[in-house]
Amino acid sequence: MKKQAKQNVNIMVLGLGYVGLPLALELARFFTVSGFDTNKERIKELNKGIDITKEIIKKSYFSNSNIKFTNNYLECKKSNIFIITVPTPVNNKNEPDLKNLKEASKLVAKIINKGDIIVIESTVYPGVTEEIIAPIIENKSGLIRKQDFNMAYSPERINPGDTKYKISNIKKVVAADDKKTLNKVSAIYKKIIKAGIYKAPSIKIAETSKAIENAQRDINIAFVNEVVMICKALNISSKKVLEAANTKWNFLNFKPGLVGGHCIGVDPFYLAKAAKMAGHNPEIILAGRKINDYMPEFIFKNAVKKIEKKSKVLILGLTFKENVKDIRNSKSAVLENLFHKKGYSVDVYDPLADKKQALEEYKIKLVVPNKKYTCVIITVGHKEFLKMSSKKIISLFAKQSLLIDIKNIWNEKKLPDYISKWSL
Ligand SMILES: NC(=O)c1ccc[n+]([C@@H]2O[C@H](COP(=O)([O-])OP(=O)(O)OC[C@H]3O[C@@H](n4cnc5c(N)ncnc54)[C@H](O)[C@@H]3O)[C@@H](O)[C@H]2O)c1
Repeated sequence: MKKQAKQNVNIMVLGLGYVGLPLALELARFFTVSGFDTNKERIKELNKGIDITKEIIKKSYFSNSNIKFTNNYLECKKSNIFIITVPTPVNNKNEPDLKNLKEASKLVAKIINKGDIIVIESTVYPGVTEEIIAPIIENKSGLIRKQDFNMAYSPERINPGDTKYKISNIKKVVAADDKKTLNKVSAIYKKIIKAGIYKAPSIKIAETSKAIENAQRDINIAFVNEVVMICKALNISSKKVLEAANTKWNFLNFKPGLVGGHCIGVDPFYLAKAAKMAGHNPEIILAGRKINDYMPEFIFKNAVKKIEKKSKVLILGLTFKENVKDIRNSKSAVLENLFHKKGYSVDVYDPLADKKQALEEYKIKLVVPNKKYTCVIITVGHKEFLKMSSKKIISLFAKQSLLIDIKNIWNEKKLPDYISKWSL
């Protein structure tokens, strides 16, 4: 790799997950970067060039002397730009859980110096950067924001598993305390983002823009999920209805399905929290969440109407979407649990999900299917399922069985008449 001229920018990236690792490695092509994570196992693996998220597959990406991985924050003391990319989930009441973000900020506060900049990339609700994180840093460091250090917010928009849109070709929204900070942070991102930088007028605007992007997607999917429910009640094909409607130039082509993961199914709750705190009761956002969260139950209720109590059920897919390893907030796990609780024998197969993680997180023992099932449910459209031969598919089914193809990926497969079909 060609050596880049060193600049007086020394970056610490806190949280090396789906977002932080690709970002840190990209930045290290131009700047000195310390990649910090509290997970010791993760650091050990990264130091060996292994990324279990599979976002970085090429080992050569790791052989860059500009980056070091560590779980000792004191080794990052020389940093002057701190980028926080830690998880921002919800708790069991669907309320924003800012624990990781607060912890990371406290850590930054211990090592920042005058003139430093803290950039939040984690998804938050409007106000978090300025009203929660900045005061924590001020309190813990004794420094004063806008005088001694500055804050910036730049939401991450990556879509793991997406081969078309990667960090460099996704336009980046950046906002900061003042023009100088905004220009400095934008110049850093500009090095790695070919798609360009959008300078938002304020931190709160940038925070809100991220929250509404994901809420909009959630609501659109909820709408088509509701269309499915209406079509089922009317006894007509929702697929054909959506196909017909989609011939209009401005019809939005969203597909029904399960909405899991840590973004689309979570971020609307962040937006709802901000709305409520500001005195507005959000209706459509929470209605969308309610419909999408009901989908596993909707599928379960329809399935059990069609199969015997002792049926053997196979669920194909545990990850929250196709072709990724991420099983966080898996709605297939919710579906599995519904069958399990009602006494069905249910197997789950997912060639991408990590077996140990599935067991720890959901008590689901992933299997390679080797028996005949009365009901096979495809919840995730992994390439491996798409490519399955008709012979292999047929071998999974018992006589008089049911295929629930939520992703409509086996439409073209020739299957015998004893396999009846149901889909969204
Ligand atoms: N994954 C995505 O598709 C995506 C896309 C856009 C935005 N985001 C947002 O980006 C943020 C990060 O998401 P992610 O998917 O990369 O999460 P992740 O779970 O993949 O990774 C986060 C990493 O942060 C580490 N961590 C946790 N607490 C820490 C702390 N206090 N200090 C340092 N490290 C800590 C964890 O060990 C983990 O390795 C979230 O706010 C998420 O909503 C994610």
